[in-house]
Amino acid sequence: MIVCVCRGVTDRQIRQEAAAGHALDEVFRRTGAGSSCGTCRLAVARLVAMEHAQAAARAQSVEQAAQQQPEQDAA
Ligand code: FES
Repeated sequence: MIVCVCRGVTDRQIRQEAAAGHALDEVFRRTGAGSSCGTCRLAVARLVAMEHAQAAARAQSVEQAAQQQPEQDAA
């Protein structure tokens, strides 16, 4: 789905940039989204925030799994 009509940037492109660890301003710069009329900037920010939150949740899940591993080995 196109999020930035002016630059033809899709939600997939934005999610990929965010998943690669790029901050919001970098996502704007790298995709060109938000650089014309600016109407899409809030939608882009929400997508980046969601992607970063999901990445943080995945990292926390991995940390918890790693912490549980020694207990399982000991049992
Ligand atoms: S819709 Fe993204 S800059 Fe216009």
